Amino acid sequence: VRVAIGSDHAGFDLKERIKALLDEWAIPYEDLGTSSEASVDYPDYAQAVARRVTGGSADRGILVCGTGIGMSIAANKIHGIRAAVAWDETSARLSRQHNNANILALRGRTTPADRVRGIVEVFLNTAFAGGRHARRVDKIAAIERKDS
Ligand code: RB5
Repeated sequence: VRVAIGSDHAGFDLKERIKALLDEWAIPYEDLGTSSEASVDYPDYAQAVARRVTGGSADRGILVCGTGIGMSIAANKIHGIRAAVAWDETSARLSRQHNNANILALRGRTTPADRVRGIVEVFLNTAFAGGRHARRVDKIAAIERKDS
């Protein structure tokens, strides 16, 4: 699995911690920034990571802002992106099994430090369950087609 990762200033610290985990697991990633805690605008990073995923150079994306919310809203504007805010292992697992989420959006400021490893590990290692969930995800794609 190849990962594209990005954050704004509020997610920078957590992004760096996640990169250390990816290094530990020998998972290849591309860091699209930001590169410091200087204030930036999260949609720029959401778009960069999302385009890597829809373009096929990354299999999954990880985005971090203060709440995960702005990143998920922005990334979900791009057709083909299913970005999910996860706050624990269960929400990360269900985002994959039920929603086939291709971007994990994390809360840089409030994700408990002892949960980060589990959330990212589960997100990267859980398969989409398909079946009735595929029908529902197909309906999301149909909304995109209708709205373009
Ligand atoms: C930045 O202050 C903050 O608004 C941003 O990181 C994010 O939480 C937006 O959703």
